[in-house]
Amino acid sequence: MKATAKAHTNIALIKYWGKRDESLILPMNNSLSLTLDGFYTTTTVTFKEKLSEDIFYLNDHLITGEQYNRVTKFLDIIRSYAQRSNLYAEVSSINHVPTAAGFASSASGFAALAAAATRALNMQISEQELSKITRRGSGSACRSIYGGFVEWEQGMKDDGSDSYAVQLVSNDHWDVRVAAVVLSATEKKVSSREGMKRTVDTSPFYTSWVNSIPNDLTQIKQAIQDRDFEKVGQIAEANCLKMHATTLGANPPFTYWHDTTMSVMQEVRAMRDRGVPAFFTIDAGPNVKVLYLPEHETTVQKTLREIHGVNDVIVSRSGQGITYL
Ligand code: DP6
Repeated sequence: MKATAKAHTNIALIKYWGKRDESLILPMNNSLSLTLDGFYTTTTVTFKEKLSEDIFYLNDHLITGEQYNRVTKFLDIIRSYAQRSNLYAEVSSINHVPTAAGFASSASGFAALAAAATRALNMQISEQELSKITRRGSGSACRSIYGGFVEWEQGMKDDGSDSYAVQLVSNDHWDVRVAAVVLSATEKKVSSREGMKRTVDTSPFYTSWVNSIPNDLTQIKQAIQDRDFEKVGQIAEANCLKMHATTLGANPPFTYWHDTTMSVMQEVRAMRDRGVPAFFTIDAGPNVKVLYLPEHETTVQKTLREIHGVNDVIVSRSGQGITYL
């Protein structure tokens, strides 16, 4: 009753920001992401008859508290699905992602956990079913089941049975690169979960944000099919700015940006002025991800590394979906 799975993180080009159901993790809008090969989690789950509770190791450290509770609550969902309510597991995860610094470690983390746990229990489920289960751990994680460009269909049903991710094009459709610009590896102050809730509950800009999504999605999906980089980049960058604008309208207001976040944004715009097509996007943290094409790799990396306050630049290509080791 043991299995190991590997999942990559993903970066949203059309953001998931806000839930219509907090407990089932049902989103207010469809979102779209690119799976990244540079950041991943490898998780081994071993169910053992003799355990009386779950045990969770992250990067070889025994985890307790809030992080442990999220894992064990998620395993409860899988146990109830498999009708094995009294069977506990030892979980060991290695995160190749700077945890909680806006690199969506929860996405690769819950995707790898869901895949390893369901495989360890020998559950015969489709990838679509796996995506639905994964969604219950962390919304963005349901997109990490697949490689390449992926859309999370929000679904309309109250029970969440039609809310799961689908692959739009495989990871060899198009070689788009993403440079993750690491500014600060410290834990963020407002988690994405708390931040999106506060925004939905209080920001007057929230409705406009949601209403703007369908058009962004239609346009970006066509541009991905056409491999129209300028168009994909423009839509993704504008979508990111709109999402972050909603946080400024929240009560109390907040932003994920640091001064260096803005320096990187400015430098990306300056690169475009110099004829290098590069575009940024930012999740619920200060770090910036920059999209570019392979022919500009040297210029983009060099430019980003020279910005004052940038600690590191990690390059990703389009990554693959779940694999079992
Ligand atoms: C800004 O998936 O971390 O990265 O469902 O509450 O676990 P929960 O939230 P999470 O939110 C991700 C928000 C985002 C945008 C995105 O990835 O689409």
